[in-house]
Amino acid sequence: MARTSKTTASKPKAIRAAITGVHGHVPDYVLTNAELAQMVDTTDAWITERTGIKERHILKGKGLGSSHMGAQAVRGLLEKTGTLAKEVDLLICATTTPDFVFPSTANLICDMVGIRNIGSFDVQAACSGFLYAMTIAAQFIETGAAKKIVVVGTDKMSSIIDYTDRATCVLFGDGAGAIMIEPSRDGHGIRDALIRSDGAGMPHLHQKAGGSRMPPTIETVEKRLHYVHQEGAQVYKFAVARMAEISLELMLRNKLTPDKVDWLVPHQANRRIIEATAERMGLPMDRVMVTIHKYGNTTAGTIPLSLWDYEQRLKQGDRLIFAAFGGGFTWAGAYVTWAYDGS
Ligand SMILES: CC(C)(COP(=O)(O)OP(=O)(O)OC[C@H]1O[C@@H](n2cnc3c(N)ncnc32)[C@H](O)[C@@H]1OP(=O)(O)O)[C@@H](O)C(=O)NCCC(=O)NCCS
Repeated sequence: MARTSKTTASKPKAIRAAITGVHGHVPDYVLTNAELAQMVDTTDAWITERTGIKERHILKGKGLGSSHMGAQAVRGLLEKTGTLAKEVDLLICATTTPDFVFPSTANLICDMVGIRNIGSFDVQAACSGFLYAMTIAAQFIETGAAKKIVVVGTDKMSSIIDYTDRATCVLFGDGAGAIMIEPSRDGHGIRDALIRSDGAGMPHLHQKAGGSRMPPTIETVEKRLHYVHQEGAQVYKFAVARMAEISLELMLRNKLTPDKVDWLVPHQANRRIIEATAERMGLPMDRVMVTIHKYGNTTAGTIPLSLWDYEQRLKQGDRLIFAAFGGGFTWAGAYVTWAYDGS
């Protein structure tokens, strides 16, 4: 019987999707806890203690939507990675605050940055949207269908926040972040990803009016139904449970003990949720990316903005666990080995 030699029997390496660049954008205007305390019945001490947030950025300016921030992040990403607009062959945008119901914000961003004639579409999975979009992008790379994919998460949360509701208005901010995804040259990249949802969570976190179920009318506006409706305590419980659960599942599937995880990259909704997730994973807080104090919850923007902030500290081969939770409910996680040295 013919025997294959060791060399000929070795399987070709599977193509892995790697993050090869990251860039972020936050608008100039900084809304501090002190300013919020003049708008609603709250204090800097309450917000800091209960959420960890000190300030958040707000997009001002007529006619500017999520696409504006997304385009800024993508422009910076293309420049930084030395990528020409014509080299990008897919752009996926995660957003819960699209400029319009249609066309997609991805479509608008492409036009703004001069990317033409490629596939572009939005992904809507609330605060897990960025990880959903990244997971989809990885499939296009792994099958060889695309070589350079831009994934952008952008949200102008201030457009759907009721600034008379102290329980929600202190939490959110505006911002965007973008990553480049390419086939890996050295085996680093997205090694595992999980996306999950449970529609029974809808009542706890949603926007009541403005969609096809309850189109906008004078009455819906008067009743302030176009704003985020959130039952904070319920959402909190699910967020902690699901973020920890998906992170631990990824650790188990990939035989990662806590000492082998270099960074947790969590969605930034509340510092206490982040701390509880890290604790359940057995990770100390100095291995957790935290940006909530300065950006608040930017929904699809939190994970790429965190990568952007910590990029200089990342080293090739670092093991990262991403975890997110959002309205829907949705949750998602990924295990990534970082592809390049940050400094
Ligand atoms: C919203 C959240 C910060 C509230 O914190 P909490 O410790 O759970 O507070 P509670 O909701 O139990 O409210 C406690 C009290 O604080 C009050 N409160 C709420 N917001 C306040 C504010 N900004 N300032 C002062 N008091 C406030 C409430 O009215 C309540 O008062 P009451 O007891 O007199 O009714 C917290 O529940 C949370 O972070 N939830 C998850 C949010 C989230 O992750 N959302 C996005 C998912 S992607």
